[in-house]
Amino acid sequence: MRHKLLVIHGPNLNMLGKREPETYGTDTMEEINACLVSYGAQADIAVDTFQSNHEGDIVEKVQQAGKYDALIINPAAYTHTSIAIRDAVLLLDIPVIEIHLSNIYKRESFRHKSLLCDVVTGQIAGFGMHGYIMAIDAIKNMLGTGKEKQA
Ligand code: DQA
Repeated sequence: MRHKLLVIHGPNLNMLGKREPETYGTDTMEEINACLVSYGAQADIAVDTFQSNHEGDIVEKVQQAGKYDALIINPAAYTHTSIAIRDAVLLLDIPVIEIHLSNIYKRESFRHKSLLCDVVTGQIAGFGMHGYIMAIDAIKNMLGTGKEKQA
């Protein structure tokens, strides 16, 4: 495939489906991943996915993301706390989209602050799993699908 995309899911997102479905929806992380892999493939984008509940593992994965063309990251609760993930994102020279299933700005005040929002390309929040599709569309737009380049 023409492009490579990494999707990182932070802590507790492995529990999607069971976890507060009224806030996060009923799709499991596996279902979201399968959808992203097939949506990406239609645009010639190979999608790799990764989930961890551990900050250091996410930092290391972000450090390795330079070999991809773009990164989508839902840092989950680390959004609000992790200077280490922020610093790792600062190492990257590729488009990075921060994503949240819920609209963090409509929730508790401790969720209103993202430590990543000013170091990513853009943020999508509040559209549930469709937000990931929106993020892939944004990446397609930034990278080009290849078709228009051949035309
Ligand atoms: C979340 C929002 C965070 O505040 C929360 O800790 C999560 C999920 C979201 O996708 O809406 O775990 O990132």
